Amino acid sequence: MNEPDKQNRAQFATRLGVIATTVGSAVGLGNIWRFPYEAGQNGGGAFLLCYILIILAFGIPVLCAEFVMGRSTRSNIFGAFRKLGSKSKWHNVGYIGIIASIMILSFYSVVAGWTMEYLYQSISGALSHDTPAQYHEQFVSFSTSNWRPIMWTAIFLALNYLIVRQGVKKGIEKMSNIMMPILFIILLIFCVNSLMMPGAKAGLSFLFNPDFDKITPSVILSAMGQAFFSLSLGLGTMMTYGSYFQKDTPLVKSATTTALLDSLIAILAGVIIFPAVFSFGVSPEQGPTLVFEILPSIFNHLPGSIIWSSLFFLLLVIASLSSTISMSEVSIAYFTEEKKMSRSRATILNTAIALFFGIICAMSFGCLSDLTFFGLFRIDLFTFFDFFSSNVLLPLGGMFISIFVGWKLDKKFLRDELSNHGTQHARSLHLIIFGLRYIAPTGIALIFLMGLGII
Ligand code: TRP
Repeated sequence: MNEPDKQNRAQFATRLGVIATTVGSAVGLGNIWRFPYEAGQNGGGAFLLCYILIILAFGIPVLCAEFVMGRSTRSNIFGAFRKLGSKSKWHNVGYIGIIASIMILSFYSVVAGWTMEYLYQSISGALSHDTPAQYHEQFVSFSTSNWRPIMWTAIFLALNYLIVRQGVKKGIEKMSNIMMPILFIILLIFCVNSLMMPGAKAGLSFLFNPDFDKITPSVILSAMGQAFFSLSLGLGTMMTYGSYFQKDTPLVKSATTTALLDSLIAILAGVIIFPAVFSFGVSPEQGPTLVFEILPSIFNHLPGSIIWSSLFFLLLVIASLSSTISMSEVSIAYFTEEKKMSRSRATILNTAIALFFGIICAMSFGCLSDLTFFGLFRIDLFTFFDFFSSNVLLPLGGMFISIFVGWKLDKKFLRDELSNHGTQHARSLHLIIFGLRYIAPTGIALIFLMGLGII
């Protein structure tokens, strides 16, 4: 084999690795569980339209900004702000990242726990019922039971702990590089199946025909939260991944490919769920439980349903792990690098905090479902963590990152980083920089103020 050949192959391998790891972090419950339920609650097509526009206008530029900060400093979010902003107070943005990452890890582990319960149920053959109402009952009786959701949350966090602590991350990343394409293929198969359902037309029209009257400030806010959540943006996860990139990794291209694949998988999930929702005559608006009631009914109609549903839930657990290890890294890097803790203590602390809040989140569906704040309003920690982290903290983090990279970094430095010293993308570069300086900061601020009812 001659030299240039070898070089080409090595480069190809790294490029693929870059995409696979960032996509591994991005693809998870956000695409398959959160996207369909948010779209269902926020008007379907109206939500999808806002989501796509936000991915293009804020998502890709902020993803590029996180990559630039990570690759040029090779640091965690605090270190990155410190190295690039010297003595300024910008590193405090890191605290938003820590709080958000722990909140997300808490409720995410509960949902990953549900996935594990459904994997277990699939294998044991307990997921075959006749009517959607029976699946509803099954989910309700599971999620309201006192100990099972807690047990699965703890098991999932223990797995996450073992992977993060032992540093077998490489292993899970390799595994997810194989599993993600398989997940993609079985999603395609489920899509074809859903497209043959009687409710296909109504389902597709719900998802793809935007009703412009439904585009309200709160729908736009939810779409923005979903975009940041799904792309793992705003808390420094992608910054950490950017720090593993090679000097010649094309940043804009990697960001665009990640955003494209991530959105594609979310849309596939929608194409699977909504035709079934309309075929079974259930409401698309039921929230976080939607997917867990619809998917098993879909699988039940397939030949070899036990195999399909077991494979699917297994892949989803793996996809969730490759996402939670990426978010755990943010607070672990903080504890080890800023607080000088050992890695094993940092991992225990991260897991313990997430377990504590995870248990309360899991109980929000059961024995804590009637909890109120001195009788004034209902406290539902699961919904609060989900809403507040995605719709408030992540966009806020993203806004600060875009202002910092767009306005505080030296222009020439930014252009050199984004273009790998002039070897990449002349045209999209201006768009990204324009997006970072003007569109993302003002757009995010405006959506916030309107969505939260402040203006
Ligand atoms: N994006 C992941 C998903 O869609 C979840 C995730 C991983 C995440 N790391 C993150 C969300 C960091 C926000 C921030 O499932």
